[in-house]
Amino acid sequence: MSPTIQEQDYTRKFSFGLWKKILRYTPAYHSKLVRLCLWMVLTAVIDIAFPLLTRYAIDELIPLGHMDRVPAFAAVYIGLMLLQVLAIFRFLYLGGQVETGVSYEFRKMGFRRLQELPFSYFDRMPVGYLMSRLTSDAVRLSETVGWSLTDLIWGTAVLGLGTVMMFTISWRLTLVVLLVTIPLVLVTRYFQKRMLASHRQVRKLNSQITGAFNEGIMGAKTTKTLVRERENTREFEDLTRNMRRTSVRAASLSALYLPIVVSLGSIATAYALWQSGEMSLQGLMTLGTVQLFVNYTVQFFEPIRDIANTFSEMQSAQAAAERVVSLIETEPEIRDTPEVLARFGDSVHPRRENWPPLKGDIEFEHVDFQYKDGEKVLTDFSLRVQAGQNIALVGATGAGKSTIVNLLCRFYEPTAGRVLIDGVDYRDRSQLWLQSHLGYVLQEPHLFSGTIMENIRYSRLDATDEEVMEAARLVNAEPFILRLERGYQTQVGEGGSRLSTGEKQLISFARALLARPAIFVLDEATSSVDTETEAVIQEAIGTALKGRTSFIIAHRLSTVRNADRILVIDGGRIIEDGTHQELLRKKGVYWRLYTNQFQEERLQTILG
Ligand SMILES: Nc1ncnc2c1ncn2[C@@H]1O[C@H](COP(=O)(O)OP(=O)(O)OP(=O)(O)O)[C@@H](O)[C@H]1O
Ligand SMILES: [Mg+2]
Repeated sequence: MSPTIQEQDYTRKFSFGLWKKILRYTPAYHSKLVRLCLWMVLTAVIDIAFPLLTRYAIDELIPLGHMDRVPAFAAVYIGLMLLQVLAIFRFLYLGGQVETGVSYEFRKMGFRRLQELPFSYFDRMPVGYLMSRLTSDAVRLSETVGWSLTDLIWGTAVLGLGTVMMFTISWRLTLVVLLVTIPLVLVTRYFQKRMLASHRQVRKLNSQITGAFNEGIMGAKTTKTLVRERENTREFEDLTRNMRRTSVRAASLSALYLPIVVSLGSIATAYALWQSGEMSLQGLMTLGTVQLFVNYTVQFFEPIRDIANTFSEMQSAQAAAERVVSLIETEPEIRDTPEVLARFGDSVHPRRENWPPLKGDIEFEHVDFQYKDGEKVLTDFSLRVQAGQNIALVGATGAGKSTIVNLLCRFYEPTAGRVLIDGVDYRDRSQLWLQSHLGYVLQEPHLFSGTIMENIRYSRLDATDEEVMEAARLVNAEPFILRLERGYQTQVGEGGSRLSTGEKQLISFARALLARPAIFVLDEATSSVDTETEAVIQEAIGTALKGRTSFIIAHRLSTVRNADRILVIDGGRIIEDGTHQELLRKKGVYWRLYTNQFQEERLQTILG
């Protein structure tokens, strides 16, 4: 039940480079960020200005009885207040915009990257891991960009302006106040380090729990059939107990830290009050200035705490940020070269006018292939297929049949050797060019939530309803579709969960055909349909694939009988190659397989 990808421990140091990079990714928000910072500075200036007004009132207005100046004073006071309201409104508004905007940008970039990444990437990355990159991590990242930066600006401005003002009042007192900041900084560092570590631990556990949820939900049926509920529950309880313990530790640390900081601040304030009070008794300082100094001392500690907080927030958000950035920066292993992109365009701006037509001659030329961290599946594999030939691949489980067609579709690339299409290495043409000419029915077909009509139309969005139905009829999917309550408008559920595997295969077969591909690939497409349906699909294959280069992988040999060529694959090599009749005459592996299966089927018919 443990997730395959553990949360990695990313750098612990605060990294300016990373945040700079994040700013580089979001150029559209730079001007907003700058304005946001300006409003924050203004807020800080206002925070520093208010105590000055109070001093004026205490020292001038009240004792000297300047009643005539009160209206002007009130006007300035109200004006400043309105300015403060405006500044707060503006920075909250801009901060919110930056926050939502940045998470939107990163999700968009992440999603686009996921579309570009090849099959092999998804072999390694569990769905839950990728989901949390685009959801919680993106949110954390954008919160930090929107608010932490502004907190930093505000904090620094208040600290800077406050210190200058305090020095102008009394440099000796100010030095004492500054002395208190030394233990404050030390305490803060001590706690922050520990709090950060335990928060990190919490998040790590959290993502393990999410992973466990994910597996628990996706694998619910398997769990039940294997009677694993008790073990799974126990493992899950261990995880959550651990989570609770760690969370409590994190919370206790915060609970301890805050009172210490508050006390330190109070000590400094008390000292300032005492000293400035004495100075005022000696006539060295007016009452208004005492008020001013004490006010600044109180204000002094808030930004320090704030800045420390923000830094640790940013440090912990850094892990989220790094994960999002690393997703966006994952280089697809299969990439078109710059020359190819320049000529044929990419998936966003394809340059179809330069695309050559695809005839369908295929050649594997001394191809070697292995999956990442896997053993060699194909060694020096060669195969020539003429345009329009129907090829059938048969062979034992794990023989390499799916691998061969995956290479043909360029879901993976050969580790050595070449795959030529119409005589040209397919790496010299764009992926999009090849994949636009391919129809592929996967071994495990996937449908998207939506109606049956939408699912079939997915391969060619401008197809009319009539064309969609024609494709469905061609693969004989229509009878079962019409049997459903809402026909073509039936919702298939998430991932097509409301349909049987056979029905899903029929729909994805129709979907593939609708795109009128030049090369057609069916991987085990008929393994889950009943014999009757299979016979109809076989007929459909016969008509639909006539004159089209096609690869059909099947375990049921009756499906492949009519193929132009049957290749028997074993251990990644072609051990027999010929038509059904030729191979039967040869009395080799195919003949043995066929007679076995045939007898079994006959036996079943007799028994059935
Ligand atoms: N994504 C993958 N990562 C690593 N190894 C893989 C991957 N897919 C397949 N393999 C390995 O490659 C070999 C060939 O697998 P392949 O899927 O091509 O067999 P197959 O002939 O299609 O089998 P089946 O009839 O069961 O579908 C197997 O040993 C398998 O374990
Ligand atoms: Mg397979």
